[in-house]
Amino acid sequence: MDQNLKHARNQGERRAIRGALLTFHQDPFFHPLEESYRYESDAIVVMEGGMIVAVGSADQLLPTLENTPITHYRDHLILPGFIDSHVHYPQTEIIASYGEQLIDWLNQYTFIAEQKFKDRAHADQVAKRFLQEQHRNGVTSSTIFCTVFPESVDAIFSEAERYNMRIMAGKVCMDRNAPEALLDTAQSAYDESKALIEKWHGRGRAEYVITPRFAPTSTFEQLEMVGALAAEYPDTLIQSHISENLDEIEWVRSLFPKVLDYADVYDQYGLLRDRAIYGHGVHLTERELAILHERGAAVAHCPTSNFFLGSGAFNLQHAKAEVRPIKVGLGTDLGAGTSFSILQTMNEAYKAAQLNGAPYSSLHTFYLATRGTAEALQLEEKIGSIAPGMEADLTILDLKSTPIIEYRMQSASSLEEALFIQMMMGDDRAIAATYIAGEPVYTA
Ligand code: GUN
Ligand code: ZN
Repeated sequence: MDQNLKHARNQGERRAIRGALLTFHQDPFFHPLEESYRYESDAIVVMEGGMIVAVGSADQLLPTLENTPITHYRDHLILPGFIDSHVHYPQTEIIASYGEQLIDWLNQYTFIAEQKFKDRAHADQVAKRFLQEQHRNGVTSSTIFCTVFPESVDAIFSEAERYNMRIMAGKVCMDRNAPEALLDTAQSAYDESKALIEKWHGRGRAEYVITPRFAPTSTFEQLEMVGALAAEYPDTLIQSHISENLDEIEWVRSLFPKVLDYADVYDQYGLLRDRAIYGHGVHLTERELAILHERGAAVAHCPTSNFFLGSGAFNLQHAKAEVRPIKVGLGTDLGAGTSFSILQTMNEAYKAAQLNGAPYSSLHTFYLATRGTAEALQLEEKIGSIAPGMEADLTILDLKSTPIIEYRMQSASSLEEALFIQMMMGDDRAIAATYIAGEPVYTA
């Protein structure tokens, strides 16, 4: 039988998993670290109807579970499913395209690959591969850029629906500075996005993301229409890019001579608000950080992409400074990002922090990849932590996934050290299983 159909049919059966467990309930960047997480060396998570219904120590819960099947993951860590806050599924086939920085890379590779997504069959095939690869990497939810073609949006939402994934996606809006074949207009961007909102937003676990690509590829008229749409649908998400690359920032300055800065472009059109998330923000000024804070907008930190395109090293500690903290999620930004693996993304986030002279602990980084990203998307009531009432999206980490990791783990003397080893040395091989809405969608 088709695996996905089998999942759908079994949806909701009561099951339990057992192993070590780590979850966060508040932001350790602003609260004492020890009070921000829960760690259990031998825990059980009970799932039913797609939800988590009980979490506790094995001692406490085992006697209540006589008729419930339990999968025991020895030497494994149960985590909330990883969330990718910024990723382009149509760029799956151009990952690792050599040699360019942002603008040339877009023109040479991205804008060529995205033209193929007018063809629904192509979009379906890439969407399928993309989600399978996410599951192999423990990613259970993500905020996705599609292309200008509505067909590409239908493709990813339809494929995600087969797994009952909490997925956020939107049609790219762009009406200038890209090949003719990829342009919409101010009016068609509005009409097509609106039709997709009506079709997908709130259907199952799907949520719509209003998606102007970035300031240089939208006319004033389009930004105005997109802003009007965002005002009409205040509970949708918004995503775009900001201050990724120095040439890009200069370009924005020349295209929008009357605004204060890059962030002000989006602010002028009502696109900075709660549930708006902007990729990169590597070079944001103090004024821009302050306005993002004031409006409640978030940044998606995408370190593998920033290093790959030579964009720079985002300073997360500075962005989260207590005087005007910005919400920050972690993202892969594939295909400028180089790995589907959130562990590898955490590895590069550590290096970005090192380059800024402002490293943070492995526990902080695991928070960032789970609950921190959920908070940036205002989804923390649904996903990003393990507790009764949360949706049952879980990632099971094999703590001895390679011979050298197993060897290194022998001298790990604390939880913090063990986690650091995992995020520095681990990759897709460390993902033992991935559960979405209570069902295993991937097992190693
Ligand atoms: N800025 C505008 N579009 C893109 C994109 O597709 N990738 C990245 N990294 N930056 C962008
Ligand atoms: Zn991006």
